[in-house]
Amino acid sequence: MPVDIVVGGQGGDEGKGKICAYLASRGDYDYSIRVGGPNAGHTIFFNDKIYTLKTMPGGFVNKRAKMVLGAGTYIITDWLEKEIKLTGVQDRLLIDPHAVIIEPRHTAAERGDARMMGKIGSVGTGLGAAVRDRVDRKKLRFAKDEPRLKKYIKDVPELLNRALAKGSRMLLEGTQGMKLSNLHGEYPFVTSRDTTASTFLGEAGLGPKYAGEVYAVFKPYVTRVGPGMVADEIKDKKVLSRYHTAGREVGSVSGRLRRVGGFDMGVARRTVSINSATRLAITHIDLLEGADISRGVKSFTGQARKFLATLDKVCAVYPNPKVRLISYGPGLYDVLELK
Ligand code: IMP
Ligand code: MG
Repeated sequence: MPVDIVVGGQGGDEGKGKICAYLASRGDYDYSIRVGGPNAGHTIFFNDKIYTLKTMPGGFVNKRAKMVLGAGTYIITDWLEKEIKLTGVQDRLLIDPHAVIIEPRHTAAERGDARMMGKIGSVGTGLGAAVRDRVDRKKLRFAKDEPRLKKYIKDVPELLNRALAKGSRMLLEGTQGMKLSNLHGEYPFVTSRDTTASTFLGEAGLGPKYAGEVYAVFKPYVTRVGPGMVADEIKDKKVLSRYHTAGREVGSVSGRLRRVGGFDMGVARRTVSINSATRLAITHIDLLEGADISRGVKSFTGQARKFLATLDKVCAVYPNPKVRLISYGPGLYDVLELK
């Protein structure tokens, strides 16, 4: 089936952006699609540059592919304009007329809401406030109403469905992760949307029939940038600082130091079943002892080998995903691909 989907299996920031960019770099996808809000940052190290994207698909690295923002995308126009320039996609960006513009009043409302910023730990981009207005059917500004975006506006569902009919392949890039899903996550410490594969399809205007491989992305540990549950949380400052430096575990949008905990088997199992994951992508394996990549996956020792063995339990969950990608460094091509 032609639409591969990438989802986060933990508390967001699993490295979805890098995995999406890696998959897209192989050139198999004609379209890279993103949905959701700019509270989610995708960080991509590509051609000696660091791209921190809040709205653009990581798939921009494939120059031949078209970039698509669906009706379930929430846009801060100034930020998007910067990303369009940075990624050079002026001539290959398509935006659904009903993507929502996050207005300064949304951002101000969220940042001025002590409960959202405190108890919930909102990133403060205004996504939640814009979603709330949409649910309330209040007057909103859509992408079609924004003169600066006019040239990118296209009927996305029609365009994508026509492309599917002609055999095009697509990568649908999800945001956040299982713990942050408004439906299946750790309410109330969640974001304002569901963050699972079926919702991403709907937000893009695609039906479920076209879902291909579903990649669930995991780190060997769990991070959370806000409050909420973190199992086996690491409190030792010295150990933590290694994650924050070598592991770059600092919020890409919020700038906050991420909390770190152990790999959570319960959350991982739910991720596989709720998303019907068929493939696992592991990132940050280089933070574990024994991840000596130079000699290939067979020579993982120590903690790294132990972690990979733990994943057998995740693969035992129906529909029995296979470990497919192992990322061992920040660079786009620092990825082992297993058959
Ligand atoms: P909001 O969606 O910005 O309101 O944030 C709600 C909760 O989800 C907070 O705990 C945030 O830190 C968390 N969150 C939202 N987006 C992301 C993300 O992309 N990565 C990690 N955490 C996120
Ligand atoms: Mg992120």
